[in-house]
Amino acid sequence: MKHFNHITDFSLEELQATLKQTKELKLNRTSTPKSLEQQSWGLLFYKSSTRTRVSFEVGIQELGANAIVLNSQNTQIGRGESIKDTAIVLSRYLHGLVIRAYDHSVVTEFAKHATMPIVNGLTDFNHPCQILTDIFSILERIDPENIELSALKNKKIAFFGDTASNMANSWIIAAAYIGFDLVLAGPNGYEPTHEVLEKLKAENLTPRHTFTNDPIEAANKVDVINTDVWVSMGDEAQSKERKETLADFQVNEALVANANQDFLFLHCLPAHIGEEVTQAVIEGPNSIVYDQAENRLHTQKAILAQLQAHSN
Ligand code: CP
Ligand code: NVA
Repeated sequence: MKHFNHITDFSLEELQATLKQTKELKLNRTSTPKSLEQQSWGLLFYKSSTRTRVSFEVGIQELGANAIVLNSQNTQIGRGESIKDTAIVLSRYLHGLVIRAYDHSVVTEFAKHATMPIVNGLTDFNHPCQILTDIFSILERIDPENIELSALKNKKIAFFGDTASNMANSWIIAAAYIGFDLVLAGPNGYEPTHEVLEKLKAENLTPRHTFTNDPIEAANKVDVINTDVWVSMGDEAQSKERKETLADFQVNEALVANANQDFLFLHCLPAHIGEEVTQAVIEGPNSIVYDQAENRLHTQKAILAQLQAHSN
């Protein structure tokens, strides 16, 4: 059974094919092949969501399937039913399940027991649908006619702020797997975690990231500037200290002045304007944040179509 829990669950050829299909699906939205016809897919949320929930629900419908949205608290999981039993039972009804959870082991445990594809819709560890979308969003700006992963090889990508977060982890894994240089700029105590370095080791990947405390150095002549919230879902108890510690890593006009003139600004959203990014940058001419949000729909449709093709 093929799952999409990490981008490394797809071979590089499968990722490339998914990105090309994303472009096709984006160009021909009204004539989407109904590759999930007659199916029912579940969307299980332990955490809030706007983009993931709506883009998956719409995408599943456009692929010809029925989407069922579940909140963990309103299911028997909220009353202690095991993930094993839930995964086995839901596999008897559904053809696939997208899960957004806190602890990454929840998604891994579902994948272990389910007999349907499991798709990771964000955990505290990573956000594979988002990172693949972000990569597509960069590639379509480099050359909309030719969506080629190899175009990232000579691009310099930087991530600012919470460099120990799920989005930073996703960039670290993508850099090592796809093969591009990534610089992470964050304070001491926010270095790439043991967990993400272990993941690289487990996949036999050579790290391609560097970590610095100097945001200006990190922004120097970069092609892509990326950030994310300083307080991720689940981190609320440390909100005050995080905002103080991360304050020097804000993406603002002074910082982006160091980047290449045609740099792209990325943020997975939701954003906290005035914290990790200023209004001038997120609404500026280099920002592609709304294209990124739209591309979640097209990329995820391609991911689901790939998973379906694999199980045929
Ligand atoms: N970027 C993202 O996953 O957004 P949501 O939390 O709104 O799903
Ligand atoms: N790092 C953020 C991403 C939200 C899409 C969080 O986990 O809350």
